[in-house]
Amino acid sequence: MTNDLDVDGATEWIDLRSDTVTRPTPEMRAAMADALVGDDQYGEDPTVNRLERLAADLLGKEAAVYVSSGTMGNLSALLAHCGRGDEAIVGDESHILWFESGGASTLGGIPVFQLRTDRWGRLDLEDIEHAIRAHRPGYPRTGVVCLENTHNRCGGVVLDIEYMRAVRELAHDRGVPVHLDGARIFNAAAFLKVSPATIAAEADSVQFCLSKGLAAPVGSVVAGTEAFIERVRSQRKVLGGAMRQAGVIAAPGLVALRMMIDRLPEDHRRARILATGLATMPGLAIDTELVQSNIVVFKHEGARDHTAFIADLKSRGLLVSNYGLRGVRMVTHYEIDDAAIERALEIVAAAVIETREPAHVLV
Ligand SMILES: Cc1ncc(COP(=O)(O)O)c(C=O)c1O
Repeated sequence: MTNDLDVDGATEWIDLRSDTVTRPTPEMRAAMADALVGDDQYGEDPTVNRLERLAADLLGKEAAVYVSSGTMGNLSALLAHCGRGDEAIVGDESHILWFESGGASTLGGIPVFQLRTDRWGRLDLEDIEHAIRAHRPGYPRTGVVCLENTHNRCGGVVLDIEYMRAVRELAHDRGVPVHLDGARIFNAAAFLKVSPATIAAEADSVQFCLSKGLAAPVGSVVAGTEAFIERVRSQRKVLGGAMRQAGVIAAPGLVALRMMIDRLPEDHRRARILATGLATMPGLAIDTELVQSNIVVFKHEGARDHTAFIADLKSRGLLVSNYGLRGVRMVTHYEIDDAAIERALEIVAAAVIETREPAHVLV
């Protein structure tokens, strides 16, 4: 994707498009420079090995594998769970469905069975029960049920442990594993005040991202049993994702896991301030109850064209994501401080006023 941002830093953007815009911390840059490396495809990169061990331990899983992105993590996990023609049950608002180029279907021959996602990011248990196929000629085999926590398109809402357990028990009763797209599992853990392992225990496989709120420049991790992770490694190779001296990019991932998890509640606090401020503005519709982590999604219901509204925010120095259907997404992260939140609210307030009183109404 190209954009016309001034990347020389001459403009002071407040960039709330995503937590993926975070740049590596000084500690991460130093770790990259000093990283011990080897050939990861031979299992000889000590930094990658340490990252995979630490990630598996944090998630309470037997093993983990470093992959280049969340998309590759989800896809390689789905390929490891499903054979060609096996179905994956996914939510109709899931990242896997919306933003991963249909990789499961196009590359894996894995049809996706979409279930309605409610505003809490949940799939209805009866819908899941109904969607899991009976063993009958003509029915595809159900290969996996996928959940997402925190839930991106639902505005960062957090699935609670009881719900996840209910899904796991239901799926396991029918012999189907559960995959968790836990791109932001550490945000979910911070909100629930539980360990990431407590969440991961409710899924057979978990993908999480180092490159989002944790601010590492590259990479995700897939965790599960040793046997499963061996299959993911093979699938990662199929996808062209076996890396060589990957320690240089894994090293900031280690820093991310050691230094960046504990500060996530700061991002959540700022997202709540943002949401509370937006809720007072005319022409914006926001459900503040759903703002549980670092994502704020709201609808712009003012008179002005939605794209023009977003362009106006940009012209004032505020970058946000257009979520379609008049939706706007803002994500807080470690490069966003209290002053940036205050300024962002001022900018939206000014744009909202113009939205309500366009020039032609004033004449
Ligand atoms: C919930 C979720 N899953 C997966 C991904 C994919 O991660 P990546 O952009 O690293 O492929 C994202 C990215 O935003 C996400 O929000």
